Amino acid sequence: MATALIVLAAGRGTRMKSDLPKVLHPIAGAPMLAHAMAAGATLDPDHVIVVAGHGAEAVRKAALECDARARVVIQNEQLGTANAVDQAAPLLADYDGDALVLYGDTPFIQPETLERMQSARADHDIVVLGFEAADPGRYGRLVTEGDTLDRIVEFKDATPAESAISLCNSGVILAPARLLFELISQVTNDNASGEYYLTDIVALARARGFSATAATCDETETMGINSRAELAIAESAFQARKRAEALENGVTLTAPDTVQFGHDTYLGRDCLVEPYVVFGPGVTVETGAHIRAFSHLEGCHVARGAVVGPYARLRPGTELSEDARIGNFVEVKNALIGEAAKVNHLSYIGDAQVGEASNIGAGTITCNYDGVGKHETIIGARVFVGSNTMLVAPVTLGDEAMTGSGSVITRDVAAGALAIARAEQVEKPGMARKLFETLRSKASRRSKVAE
Ligand code: UD1
Ligand code: CA
Repeated sequence: MATALIVLAAGRGTRMKSDLPKVLHPIAGAPMLAHAMAAGATLDPDHVIVVAGHGAEAVRKAALECDARARVVIQNEQLGTANAVDQAAPLLADYDGDALVLYGDTPFIQPETLERMQSARADHDIVVLGFEAADPGRYGRLVTEGDTLDRIVEFKDATPAESAISLCNSGVILAPARLLFELISQVTNDNASGEYYLTDIVALARARGFSATAATCDETETMGINSRAELAIAESAFQARKRAEALENGVTLTAPDTVQFGHDTYLGRDCLVEPYVVFGPGVTVETGAHIRAFSHLEGCHVARGAVVGPYARLRPGTELSEDARIGNFVEVKNALIGEAAKVNHLSYIGDAQVGEASNIGAGTITCNYDGVGKHETIIGARVFVGSNTMLVAPVTLGDEAMTGSGSVITRDVAAGALAIARAEQVEKPGMARKLFETLRSKASRRSKVAE
């Protein structure tokens, strides 16, 4: 069914005590707004409209990063949820499909839940997403009769009998766009909060003979975030779900609770992830790769059979080919590491290509930055880079080249050549022994004076 998505994100989020608009606080590295938009995106919406208010410019930027087609409308004064949705009306004036309302601060609604709501639309004009609340607290209550939803009562306006209802309003509503805006135009602010309640559209619709129903989902999906404490709970709930998914998909996590996932981390079957690994956004790890303890990965792709860490850092733009090895205290950024190539110890490889089966010795650094611009290092196949080589970019090492350890390589090295660029060794016979004697006699004179 054709659907337009309307995401409410105008609220200030006072309880976050933050300069950042609430919906931009991250969960697993992505703003909560992006999580909500991603949930809505599973319905393949024709329109994506975000209603912003506080911090609208920052919200616009985040919305566009998440979906380039998104349009942002501004609600200048937060007069209530009905007024917020109404800001989208001009953009949907000629739209014949459904409108789905989501909250930007409710990031965990699952695609299957939205699909269930869509199925319920076959028999009803309005579908509201409800949940059985363990503690109904200040949620709106869904007043139902059989599978008919009669009305929604906000907590502040509820009678004791209505307050006793545990079926609560998540805020998610699906209705034909035209009907939705028509009903909204009839909503007043004559209630305990003096706000225009979106929830009032249900009673208005029923009075006119339209039908409404409640679809339900688990309370964990409808969790809204209003404070840092709730943000922390949301983060840990998200992490728990990602870990469970990874285990279910055939990934071994030796200490699941210590592994931190990004919102979009993909781990292939038979990956092994050791304790205390952190995945930032944009990581794909293919089948059978092994991520060893205390590694940090972000914006990278790890191919089959590669081994990373312990204590490795893969930064954005890192591409590890099959069976590549990245060892301890190695940082890789914007670099392609070829098949079976090894960078095993204490290195920085940035803005570089390393050919297949090349070996990068301990302490090697690609000097990619000259203080102004970044430059590339190209290393061919089966190259041996000696320990502690400085590769001053831009520089190229041909296939099967070699560099002497401690070299500072500033010029290209031809295929098959050995480049050595360091001071030549001099040897002074007997000199060490003489030096030791001098130093020791000086030291003993000093200690006699001290006595
Ligand atoms: C709302 C529902 C309530 C439901 C609860 C679920 C109404 C009247 N009440 O209550 O039934 O149980 O959510 O969490 O709809 N917003 C705007 N502009 C506004 C007002 C709100 O953009 O003028 C946004 C907020 O930023 C937030 C969302 O809409 O993302 C919900 O607003 P909030 O004030 O939190 O509603 P509740 O009182 O919690
Ligand atoms: Ca709320």
